[in-house]
Order: sequence, then structure tokens, then C-alpha cells
Amino acid sequence: MGKTIVIVGGQWGDEGKGKIVDILTGDADVVCRYNGGNNAGHTVVVGTENFKFHLIPSGILHRSKMNVLGNGVVIDPEVLIGEIEGLASRGFSVSEKNLSISSSAHVIKKSHIEEDEKKGRAIGTTGRGIGPCYVSKISRSGLRMMDFIKSSSPYANRLKPFVKDTYLIVNNAISNGKNVLLEGAQGTLLDIDHGTYPYVTSSNPIAGGACTGIGISPKSISSIIAVLKAYSTRVGSGPYPTELGTENETKSEDRDLGLTTQDFDGANKGNEYLQGKVLRKQGMEYGTTTKRPRRTGWFDCVAARYANTINGTDGMAITKLDVLTGLNKLKVCVAYDTGGKRIANFPLDIEVLSRCRPVYREFRGWQEDISHARKLSELPKEARLYLDALQNLTGTPIAMVSVGPERSQTIILKKKLLF
Ligand code: GDP
Ligand code: IMO
Ligand code: MG
Repeated sequence: MGKTIVIVGGQWGDEGKGKIVDILTGDADVVCRYNGGNNAGHTVVVGTENFKFHLIPSGILHRSKMNVLGNGVVIDPEVLIGEIEGLASRGFSVSEKNLSISSSAHVIKKSHIEEDEKKGRAIGTTGRGIGPCYVSKISRSGLRMMDFIKSSSPYANRLKPFVKDTYLIVNNAISNGKNVLLEGAQGTLLDIDHGTYPYVTSSNPIAGGACTGIGISPKSISSIIAVLKAYSTRVGSGPYPTELGTENETKSEDRDLGLTTQDFDGANKGNEYLQGKVLRKQGMEYGTTTKRPRRTGWFDCVAARYANTINGTDGMAITKLDVLTGLNKLKVCVAYDTGGKRIANFPLDIEVLSRCRPVYREFRGWQEDISHARKLSELPKEARLYLDALQNLTGTPIAMVSVGPERSQTIILKKKLLF
């Protein structure tokens, strides 16, 4: 029997979903994107080559798979065609044999982008027209792919061969015992219903979004893998309890300058902004879509427990563990302090969340390069203890650990949750 696996972002997006999807795609027959649009940016590194995806699932790099853009996705036709042509120019041909677009997916229009650029600033949107397009969809005045391809747009004919009733492709694959991978964009805390509203995106990145965004039954899902960084990042505005340094400090930093020994010394003496700077520079935390510097912070178990509850996470994929190398002390947020009252559950009231101060537990860091580790036993003791703590404090097993951007830089721990 085949499996259907959901890959979901467990934080504020950019957790490394693209890399994890790329690894699992090796054993998948169909790879589907279920939400969002070209606000997403998924980077996949294969050998010396770097691929950036905004819409097409990274499954396209494994040539024989079928890739699906589900009904839950919003599509900017010009961006999609640009992505198809960019891949073709690098030797990855995209045709109706390996890409299908849901006939019910909604189309982003120029007017949506203009509106987003005007009104989305306060939230820090990517300005790609995502919110306004979903507004049109929900208000039942949107344009769907099935109608777009009948229009006089210069892109209509180019996209026509790809547009299908994709629910059939995916459900037939499931019935025929194929392996299906469902890829979410963004992350749980950016979910329109369950994220830090209004500082969220306009779709449902959570695992449940895979069912509505593709048209499959919740009963068909075999396992849910939430991807979380070994620390945390957030791009755009909104509360972020474990943030290191301020949003303004992050914005004013010179992007082109690397880390100095003074930065490391300062970080190891306890300067929070410099700790965040080390994470940003070592993790190359700059947006794939907008190039904005990402805000950085410690791993937040309160937020992770919330994400694992909402998603029903079976196993976590912990990425970018290598980025913590060189920091003497690591912190993990175990609870929030709201002016004297300690809380362990993630509050939904944004004003309460904004007042939450992290209660930390400290761990020893490590100095060794861990990017060559392929087994848990090849990690320094401190790194293993850190992973144990994430597992225990979130109450969720770790299925995979990533120690570098490359496919091979991965430690698999719970094969039974994967294909
Ligand atoms: P996504 O949006 O969740 O797919 O994540 P992004 O691609 O936006 O950001 C993750 C970035 O981290 C990408 O540049 C990846 O190549 C990179 N990356 C993924 N896993 C690792 C890892 O384990 N270590 C390091 N150093 N980089 C990683
Ligand atoms: P991936 O798939 C991180 C953020 C934006 C902004 C908010 C709303 O790469 O993880 P939008 O343009 O969606 O209306 O912006 O959501 N955001 C992301 N942050 N990763 C993403 O995607 C994001 N997509 C949107 O920065 O704060
Ligand atoms: Mg990203």
C-alpha cells in the first residue's frame, strides 16, 4: 500500500520545507503543493546547484514524478511561466507529463498585486497579491484557472495543457497504492485561522489545509511531518517572543558584511542581538522571495507544542542544527511569563502574546563542525542532548535532523514515518 505524507511548516515559514520535500520526493510518485502562492520561497541545493521555487513543487527536480498545484494554491500566471522556463533553461523540462494545475486554483491579477503593495505594508506582506487574491476567492468573485485559460490573456494558451481536474489525479494515485507527498507553503504560525492574526498569510498552511487545498480525505493521510528549525526565524511583522535583538536592529544590519570574532565573543558573553546576528549570518537568513533579513530567535517549545497540536504532528524534521555551532550556550523557551504569571500554552490573543516574555532553559553548545554527521552517534554529545530536549519539551519525536542544505546532509531517525 502507498503512503500519503504531509510536510508542514511548524514555525513562521522558511523552516527548510523545500529541502525535506526534495529528499522525500525520491520515493514519491505524486508531489502536490496545497496552499499559498509565490509568497513562498523554497531553496533546494543539489550538489553545487541551487534551485529556488516559488510555485512548482521541488519534486520537479526528480524528473519522472507528477507535480500538482492544488486548488488551494493561488497562481500568478506570469510567475509560473517564468518558473517553467527557468527550469527548462537548466535542463528540467516541464510539460503536462510532470505538472498539473488544478482547474479550481485561483488566479492572481495585477489589481491584486497593486492592492497588496498599497495595503499589505503594515503586515509586511511579500507584496505578491496573495491576500487580495484570496479575498476575491472567498467573496466569490475570483478568477479560476478553468476560466482563465479561456480568456484572451497571452498566458492562457501556454498554461492550458497543464490545467486539469487534479483531484482525480491525486485520489486515483492514492487508490492505486502510489506514494503521495503533500507540500505546504509558509508555516503554522502564519495560518489565517491558527496563526498570529492579523500578522499571517491568507491561506491554511497547516496539515488540515492539505485536505481542502488538494481535495482528499483526512482519512487518506498516513503521516504528518512538521519541519522546524533548531532555532527560529520570522520575516515580516508580528509578535515573536523569542526574538533576539529588535526588528529595527535586524533591518539596519549590513547584509554584505560577514561575522567578526567580536560578534562571536559578544554573542558568547550574552549579547542577545549578537546571538541573533550569529544565527542570521551562519544560517544565511535572508528571504528567498523578498531578500529581507529574517528576524532570528531561540527555539520556542510553547509555539512548537501548539503547532504540533494543531497539525497532529507524527514526527518533526529539525533543520539547520549546524547553524548553532560555535555558540557556547543555547537557550530553549519552555514557557512564557506574562507579567508574573507563567503560562505553558500558546495564547491566541495577540496582545497577550506580545507581552509574553520567554522563560528559558539553557543548554551547552558545541564547537565541532557537524555538517558531515550522517548518524546521531556522529554528533557531539551536546548536540544529542539538545535534540533530546527538543523532543522531550515538545512531546513529539524527531523523525529527521538536517545538518546542511544538501540532500545528503540528513540524519533519518524514524524511517517508518517516511515512505
Ligand atoms: P522553506 O521555505 O521552508 O522551503 O525554507 P527556505 O528555502 O526559504 O529556507 C531554508 C534555507 O535553509 C534554504 O536556503 C536551505 O537551502 C537552507 N537549509 C535547509 N536545511 C538546512 C540545514 O540543515 N542547514 C543549513 N545550513 N541550511 C539549510
Ligand atoms: P515559505 O513557503 C516566511 C509572511 C510575510 C508576511 C506574512 C504575509 O517560504 O515558508 P503574504 O505575502 O503571504 O500576504 O505575507 O507572511 N510570509 C512568509 N514568511 N516564509 C514564507 O513562505 C512566507 N510567505 C509569507 O513575510 O509577514
Ligand atoms: Mg521560504
